[in-house]
Amino acid sequence: MEYFTLSNGLKMPKLGYGVYQVDPAEAQRCVSEAIAAGYRHIDTAQAYRNEEGVGAAVSQSGVPREEFFLTTKVWISNAGEEAAARSIDESLKKLRTDYIDLLLIHQPFGDYYGTYRAMEQAYAQGQVKAVGVSNFFADRLVDLCLHCKIPPMVNQMETHVFYQQKQTRIWMDKYKVLHESWGPFAEGRNNFFSHPELTRIASKYGKSVAQLALRFLIEKGVAVIPKSTHKERMAENFAIFDFKLEEEDLKALTALDANKSSFLDHYAPETAEMLSGWKI
Ligand SMILES: NC(=O)c1ccc[n+]([C@@H]2O[C@H](COP(=O)([O-])OP(=O)(O)OC[C@H]3O[C@@H](n4cnc5c(N)ncnc54)[C@H](OP(=O)(O)O)[C@@H]3O)[C@@H](O)[C@H]2O)c1
Repeated sequence: MEYFTLSNGLKMPKLGYGVYQVDPAEAQRCVSEAIAAGYRHIDTAQAYRNEEGVGAAVSQSGVPREEFFLTTKVWISNAGEEAAARSIDESLKKLRTDYIDLLLIHQPFGDYYGTYRAMEQAYAQGQVKAVGVSNFFADRLVDLCLHCKIPPMVNQMETHVFYQQKQTRIWMDKYKVLHESWGPFAEGRNNFFSHPELTRIASKYGKSVAQLALRFLIEKGVAVIPKSTHKERMAENFAIFDFKLEEEDLKALTALDANKSSFLDHYAPETAEMLSGWKI
């Protein structure tokens, strides 16, 4: 495995396995299969309601805990210093561990400054090895960086070849915040896996569109956490360290950026309403 180094020195595997929309009843099976395929970095969240399945798979894997890199995220309904602190304890129990490698604020809504203070406290106590955010566009990211004690180390954003987050990335780099992708395949939207240009470039390397999409991101310095419930695809998505993109292909892929979300607009009032209404 290859690693990115976070601003506090912690090493984070460039590739992980994400479990959004993995049914809680299926999570243990899926994560066990991902571990068997070689994944050691697992990305879950309180809102996915499958932290227990992740914890069960990790603790029963026979692989030492220190070989794993576990990420979870505090949801909006647990925002605020006290509620977030309680929720961190709950996540630790569900994950069957005494530390979380990376803890993120899931969404920039509600009292997320209070949440962040609880995360800083958990970091100081060793319950959390790295802290960060998710879905923070540059304005909110910079504001938080300027008004916290422990700077965020990661920002997990919707990022794929069609939405590369070039503007926000400038600010992430300035504040030494590692760029992590969610939705590296845009969840297959817009015929992602049969896109003609992606198919053409992937075939040059004898690779699939999925492998090309992931390789492109890691070469751009972006950590990836693709999700699949199929073990053949887990293995396919893992096999991205045996090729390197040529400059002309990196350029062609960079040019595919449409700078538009395939999912939602974080600046639309409806998004704040919709996500804040999501109870877990
Ligand atoms: N922070 C946030 O707000 C946020 C939001 C969304 C996601 N995330 C995180 O990011 C992770 C990844 O994003 P995502 O799950 O939204 O979407 P994604 O990884 O872009 O796409 C997952 C979809 O692609 C399919 N797929 C996976 N590998 C494939 C392959 N090799 N060939 C063809 N199809 C393939 C999967 O189907 P099957 O499962 O049927 O194989 C699934 O439908 C999540 O699991 C989660 O951990 C975070």
